Parts: sequence; structure tokens; C-alpha cells
Amino acid sequence: MRILLIGDIVGKPGERIVTRSLPALRRREAIDLVIANAENAAEGSGLAPSQYRRLIAAGVDCITLGDHIYRRSEICEVLATETNIVKPANYPATAPGRTWAVVTAANGTRVAVVSLLGRVFMRPVDCPWAAIDRVLGELPADVKVRVVDFHAEATSDKQLMGRYLDGKVTAVLGTHTHVTTADEQIFPGGTAFQCDVGMTGPHESILGRRIDRVLETTMTFQPTQFEVASGDVRLSGTIVDADPASGRATAIRRLIVTQSEADAVSGEREA
Ligand SMILES: [Fe+2]
Ligand SMILES: [Fe+2]
Repeated sequence: MRILLIGDIVGKPGERIVTRSLPALRRREAIDLVIANAENAAEGSGLAPSQYRRLIAAGVDCITLGDHIYRRSEICEVLATETNIVKPANYPATAPGRTWAVVTAANGTRVAVVSLLGRVFMRPVDCPWAAIDRVLGELPADVKVRVVDFHAEATSDKQLMGRYLDGKVTAVLGTHTHVTTADEQIFPGGTAFQCDVGMTGPHESILGRRIDRVLETTMTFQPTQFEVASGDVRLSGTIVDADPASGRATAIRRLIVTQSEADAVSGEREA
């Protein structure tokens, strides 16, 4: 079976390239399940309920978030009621949302999805290792295919989580840095790994935001509005092939879709 994880969706440009191209991409790449990290969808921070619905309608099966999860507080109702969206599993029990989801892929395989936050160069949060141990103890034993979105800053942190979970989950894929890493691989125990899947949004930017605004604030210390940029929109994702019976990964590759490729695959032109 084939799983696509779409990296951090930033703003309207990120949302639009996903909703326009995903139905055709699913067919072209024969994808059975799509997971998307949407923590930056709402003008760069958070996820609005309307965006959640549009992404699901376009063919996203499960949504993960990250450190910006609650920036749009309206999402808490979605987190409380929907079964295909998760909070970071190492957030406290009092934080809204479920710590894992099980969704059914197009080929009928049930797939567990877990989100974890790193602790290096990030806001303090509960231990991600203890959290994933708890989650693995709770997951139904017959759900063999398990995908972990490790939303973290440091590559060492991500490698550690990947190695810790090798043989226990199908894939440990990183998000949060918005920069795709070229280290996709399958570890000896059968776990697919990549430090960061990258960003789905405008790449003529600083991590999705306008270059001039970030530069001005950085150099002058004057606060500005870090608006979402607009140029060079790309969808960044990673595709993992897995054996549904064992849950072991058999292949991993990066998927970058440029705006012109997205237009071509969707058979439409951007107005
Ligand atoms: Fe992000
Ligand atoms: Fe993040």
C-alpha cells in the first residue's frame, strides 16, 4: 500500500495547491492514504474549521498539526468531534484533541496516525518518548501500519525518534522546519524515515512568510506582520510504500509538485 504525508501546509497558497492537485495526484501516484500537516494553513498559523473540511473533501484522510495547533481556537470543536485529526500526543490530557487516530485507507487497510512534538529548541512539552510508548500500548494490535509525524526542530532529535521507533512503526517522518531533507531511508527494522518532509506553500519566502517583512523585523527589531508569501508555490510530500500485513515499509521517496506541475496534473490553470 502507498501512503503520502504532505508537509506543513502554509496559508491559502498551500491549501490551494493541495485542494487543486490532490485528487489527480492520488490517481497518478496510486496513493491509498493521505496524511497532511496543516498547522500553518490559516494565514500561516493554525487551521480554520472550513479549511479542515476543504482539505478532507480534496482527499486528505487524516490531519496532523504542531506547535501552532490552537492558534485558531475554533479548531478545538473539530478536534473534539472528528476522528481523523490529532493533537500532539505529548500534550497534556487537558489539551483538546485525540492522541491518535485510526483511519481506513483506500485499499481497506487501517492505519494509525500519531503526532509528536520535539523538545529541542522548542517550547517545553511532555516527553515524546514516554508519549509514544503510551500510544503504542493503546493502539489496536491488528493495526500494523503506523505513521508518526515527528514535529520537531533538531535533526538529531528526529534521528533519535526514528531509531527508537525502528521496527515499531511503519514511518517516522519529520515536519516543522519547512525545509525538505535529503535523508529519506528505511532503517534495518523496516521503518521509513526522513528528518523533514518540507513545506507546502510559497517557497519564494522565509519558511512561507514574506522575505521583506521577516528581514525588516530581524534587522530593525520593529515588529511587522509576517504575511504569507505568494511566489513559487510547491507541494512537498513524502511517499511511503508499506506491507499492510507486517506494517514494514518497503520504499520511501520524496514528492515535490510545483505550481505548473499541479496545474498540469489537475488539468486547470491558475486564474
Ligand atoms: Fe510549520
Ligand atoms: Fe511547527
